[in-house]
Amino acid sequence: LASTEVDLTPIAVGQAVTVVWRGKPVFVRHRTAEEIQAARATPLSQLKDPATDQSRVQRDQWLVVVGVCTHLGCVPLGQKPTDARGEYQGWFCPCHGSHYDTSGRIRLGPAPLNLAVPEYSFTSDTQIRIG
Ligand code: FES
Repeated sequence: LASTEVDLTPIAVGQAVTVVWRGKPVFVRHRTAEEIQAARATPLSQLKDPATDQSRVQRDQWLVVVGVCTHLGCVPLGQKPTDARGEYQGWFCPCHGSHYDTSGRIRLGPAPLNLAVPEYSFTSDTQIRIG
């Protein structure tokens, strides 16, 4: 499939879902106010791959990223409530220990780049189309 539709209605605040787009996992997280605030409060000078949170989201509460670690391609943990999310409360890649923040930006470990933001658009307030 060239594009993937995601219904956001069932994803409560603080929850995340994984969908498959072009054979890759895509993480859709409904961020809490605290997660948004943490992402916004981080100075660019602390980032290995500097990008503002605003440049990575279309709507503050929804973060959409490709769930593939930019080191060697493992799928990071952090989607399930019981997962380790790493030191920055985003995702943790167990393969070699990369920590991503609540904007999906690399903060610690060997990964060189932030989790990629795929092309997507809101087709309504409660639906996105990836791709
Ligand atoms: Fe994720 Fe190496 S593949 S840290």
